[in-house]
Amino acid sequence: MESHVQLYQFDVTKCAVQLGIPDTIQRHGKPMSLAELEAAICINQEKTQSLGQLMRVLTQSGFFEKKFIIKSNDKEVGYALTKAGQLLVRENPLAVTPFMLAILDQDAQKPWHYLSNWFQNRDRSAFQTAHGKTVWELANNMPKFNDYFNEAMASDSRLVATYLFDYSEEGNLGKALFEGLNSLVDVGGGTGTMTKAIADACPWLNCICFDLPHVVAGLQGTKNLTYIGGNMFEAIPQGDAILLKWILHDWNDEECVKILKQCKEAIMNSDKGGRVIIIDIVIGHQTEDYKSLETQLLFDLQVMVWARGKQRDETEWYKLFLNAGFNQYKIISKLGVRSIIEIY
Ligand SMILES: C[S@@+](CC[C@H](N)C(=O)[O-])C[C@H]1O[C@@H](n2cnc3c(N)ncnc32)[C@H](O)[C@@H]1O
Repeated sequence: MESHVQLYQFDVTKCAVQLGIPDTIQRHGKPMSLAELEAAICINQEKTQSLGQLMRVLTQSGFFEKKFIIKSNDKEVGYALTKAGQLLVRENPLAVTPFMLAILDQDAQKPWHYLSNWFQNRDRSAFQTAHGKTVWELANNMPKFNDYFNEAMASDSRLVATYLFDYSEEGNLGKALFEGLNSLVDVGGGTGTMTKAIADACPWLNCICFDLPHVVAGLQGTKNLTYIGGNMFEAIPQGDAILLKWILHDWNDEECVKILKQCKEAIMNSDKGGRVIIIDIVIGHQTEDYKSLETQLLFDLQVMVWARGKQRDETEWYKLFLNAGFNQYKIISKLGVRSIIEIY
């Protein structure tokens, strides 16, 4: 039963977000009956029964819970948001909604229908089989896809930055990471949400957000944040530390070694103990429950389909570091299913 619900869970959750159900219940401030919900969101009157079916599945998947609404002598079933459901509310700074909508966008989903074709052809990725372009080329050519993608990355960066600087177990893991450094280059930093969060939390640090020219075009820096466009395979601006958040999983081993060698060049002149800080998945690392490992494996498939990338276990990471000329690494902490790895 559970697996059948899971099969359609993404589409059903996307539908609820597009109809504004989490936002509506949040604004209401208390559990909402089906009739109240129907009146508040604009759906066709003939679809009441279907709305009930939708809410039943979403309750089963843990985004909503049923609560009784007491009305004079009567009680009625209402729907409230669970903790997981709160992450679907658009105004929540920690919302995962942009990430979810980007992953479930039609253009993003198309490659999954070409998986078997891709296994039999010579294309780099199923994404390329479906679109005739890599993810980065499509983002460069299709502003809507570019915006969706960059907003998805930004929402994930908000989540990670909040954890690093506000909620980390160690008090302030983020500050400890960047203490003693004068400069940081966020390579593949997208539109700079993570870089800006670091620059704001660590005002002593000069930060550069480095990404492809079309990604950073027209973006304004601040006192300690600069945007630079370029290609990480050719050259990376100099700094005391390089941040690679969700970068290496998009590339094969040979390409990762090339990127890491460019990082090594970029920190070579640092007198502050130059290092590379990677935020990515280490498969099997501190996955204390089955769900975490399952999530890591799903992300592994996601990057394979999109970019022919891969998630790596500790041994695979170590091989990359050695081949790029680094000889020490430290896995500092986990960020949910991801880890922070420092390499020297
Ligand atoms: C998965 S996103 C990660 C974005 C950001 N680090 C984050 O975690 O939110 C990968 C980023 O790498 C950038 N990128 C791809 N190829 C690149 C290249 N050759 N040089 C620089 N950046 C590149 C993309 O534009 C994109 O912003």
